Amino acid sequence: MASLTIRKLDDAVKTYLRLRSAKNHRSVEEEVRVILRELIEGREEPLTPFSAPPAPSTASTPQRTGAVPEASVTLIIGGGIAAYKSLDLIRRLKERRVEVRCVLTKAAQQFVTPLAVSALSHERVYTDLFDPQSEFDAGHIRLARDCDLIVVAPATADLLAKMANGHADDLASAILLATNRKILLAPAMNPLMWNNAATRRNVAQLQRDGVVLIGPNSGEMAEAGEAGVGRMSEAIEIATAAERLLRPPVPKPLAGKRVLITAGPTHEPIDPVRYIANRSSGKQGFAIAAAAQAAGAEVILVSGPVDLGDPPGVTVRHVESARQMLEQVQAALPADIAIFAAAVADWRVANEGEQKLKKTSAGMPPLQLVENPDILATISKLPEKRPPLVIGFAAETEHLIDNAKSKLARKGCDWIVANDVSPATGVMGGDRNTVHLISKNAAKNGEITVDSWPVMTKEQVAIELVAHVAKSVTGKSLESAS
Ligand code: C5P
Repeated sequence: MASLTIRKLDDAVKTYLRLRSAKNHRSVEEEVRVILRELIEGREEPLTPFSAPPAPSTASTPQRTGAVPEASVTLIIGGGIAAYKSLDLIRRLKERRVEVRCVLTKAAQQFVTPLAVSALSHERVYTDLFDPQSEFDAGHIRLARDCDLIVVAPATADLLAKMANGHADDLASAILLATNRKILLAPAMNPLMWNNAATRRNVAQLQRDGVVLIGPNSGEMAEAGEAGVGRMSEAIEIATAAERLLRPPVPKPLAGKRVLITAGPTHEPIDPVRYIANRSSGKQGFAIAAAAQAAGAEVILVSGPVDLGDPPGVTVRHVESARQMLEQVQAALPADIAIFAAAVADWRVANEGEQKLKKTSAGMPPLQLVENPDILATISKLPEKRPPLVIGFAAETEHLIDNAKSKLARKGCDWIVANDVSPATGVMGGDRNTVHLISKNAAKNGEITVDSWPVMTKEQVAIELVAHVAKSVTGKSLESAS
């Protein structure tokens, strides 16, 4: 087994190891062991020599870490003592399944070597704008665009100045000028340089250009006895900021809102084995539940018998009959929004058989029907606990809009989603829907408006309906919410 002499490693690697081991309160040898273990644990394959890492062809080239990368970053390492932290940043980004391709400025190579960066990124390192190996196909353009984000760490005063003024006289500045990707800068410099009027102007210009900055932090400088704002952010802070830009949080306009939804048919028993049902699949109501959950709402879905899996993150109450559905709906109150998408049976059998009905010579036993409770109307007319926004559905086979408008008045809800369910439309049980949103505008003296949407999938109808709900109850659109 070969032994490793730390003393013989190159200076930049030694500096990195010394600083890292001091920070982690370990000996340098121990730190090397930790680094090797961490590297190996993240791999499926044994380490291969990095001396000939493959040149990446596209941003999505899989890496050898076991996990398939989900995003890619071009990391530009500028020339400053903070460059040693960029070695840790490579590791932090890779932990987050980000592929990292590194560019070193000439000055950066005084602090970290291409060899060390290549070993950590498992990629070849780019240093030269006029490198015939990568420039035969305009490699700087690929580095600028075949990635999801460009990170500059450390971003020196010189790099900021070049960027703010559009210089392109080396590989790093050419990439920064040629990119159409978001740029994250982690400045690092002496506090006097950071506070210099020229740097202030450059930073202001870069912010106007849409560049995102993280740090610098305040603290002690590498220069003995100097302290102030200018220390580069820690690798973990930069990796977190990069991750936020790569995977922006999904807007949650309904966060803090409780949404109650009914879906599916109801089964009204005739006897223990027979029931009255309808053709509702529950797909539209389930899609609305999923969309409301994705918009951040707490969702309670009361569903009749359907062949669908429960949407993740949604509380589902499974019921059979209309009366059970009403019971569960009442138990789920209060709610901020109630959407009644279920195709509830209007009638149930009054004389439900306790045993299976037998064929008799007298012919079919007469079935007496009684009206089911109207869940939508009951909840819409509650004196207390009425949800502030109540939405019903109107499935009609003729006079769609007129019938839906009179339903809005009769049931006392705020909106009706009307859809034509005549057999030719294929809506019942199908995947697409054409709907009209009929709403009572309280601000306009109860004026009724009809908004007709084009044919969409039930998922799209759900997303659109949830967007309207969010706008109405919070004033936030799905796009603008954060
Ligand atoms: O009267 P109709 O069944 O056409 O009304 C449809 C709307 O009323 C839907 O929103 C449906 O969920 C709701 N409804 C209800 N309880 C019933 C009948 C219908 O909640 N018994």
